[in-house]
Amino acid sequence: MVEFSSVPVHVAIIMDGNGRWAKNKGLKRIEGHRVGVKVVKEIVEASLKIGIKFLTLFTFSTENWKRGEEEINFLFELFANSVKEYIPELKTNSIRLNVIGNLNQLPIFLRKAIDYAIKDTENGEKLTLTLAINYGARLEIVEAAKKAKSTDMEITEESFKNFLFTKDLPDPDLIIRTSGEMRLSNFLLYQAAYSELFFTKTLWPDFTKEEFLEIITEFNKRERRFGGV
Ligand code: IPE
Ligand code: IPE
Ligand code: MG
Repeated sequence: MVEFSSVPVHVAIIMDGNGRWAKNKGLKRIEGHRVGVKVVKEIVEASLKIGIKFLTLFTFSTENWKRGEEEINFLFELFANSVKEYIPELKTNSIRLNVIGNLNQLPIFLRKAIDYAIKDTENGEKLTLTLAINYGARLEIVEAAKKAKSTDMEITEESFKNFLFTKDLPDPDLIIRTSGEMRLSNFLLYQAAYSELFFTKTLWPDFTKEEFLEIITEFNKRERRFGGV
C-alpha cells in the first residue's frame, strides 16, 4: 500500500455509471448496482488503510425517484441487505455507519436495517462511513432554514451548519465523481464550497482502489488557497 504524506480527512464520492456499465455488457441496470457494492467494499477498505476519517457515499438522490419502480426497489433491498451483511466487518474494523438524507420516505425494512446498523456500529472510531440515501442538498438546505427559523438562535455560517444533515461531519476535502459526468447532481452543495473536485471517466463498477489512491496522490499536489494568496 502506498504511503501518503497527508491524506484528506473527508472524502465524498458520487458513485455514478452503474447503469451504463451494465448496458455496455448487455446486462440489466441492476447488475451494475450489484457489482457497485463490491467496489464500495474495496474503497472502504482502502480508505481505512490510508487513514481517511470520513468517507461519504452518494447512494440515492432525491431525484432518483424518477427511475422505474423495479430499479428503485432493487436498490433499497440491495442497501438493506448490504448494510446487514457488512455489520460484522464494520465492527471488526471500527467503522461507524452514518446516514444522511430524508429517511422518512424510505421503506420500513430499509429504515430498520439502517437504524440497527447505526446503533450496532456506534463505537466505531477509525472511520465514519456515511451513506447519503434519499439525499438532496437543496432539500437539506431548505429543511435547515426551516429548523433555524423555528429557533431563537442567531444564524451564522457556523450555527447554520448545525441544522444540516452533515452537522457531525467536517466539510469534504475531496469530492470524486465517476462515469465522466462533470456535475454535482445536488450533492453536498453547501459543504462543497472549498472541496477539491475530481472527475474520472471510469464507471463505478470498474473503479479500483489503485485509481482511488492515484486520485489521493493528485489531491496532495493541489494547492488549496481558500481564498487566500
Ligand atoms: C449510480 O449509477 C448509482 C445510483 C444512482 C444509484 P447510475 O444508476 O446513475 O448509472 P448510470 O449513470 O445510469 O450509468
Ligand atoms: C447522482 O447520480 C446520484 C447518485 C450517484 C446516487 P445520477 O445518475 O442520479 O445523476 P445525474 O442524473 O446523471 O445528474
Ligand atoms: Mg447516473
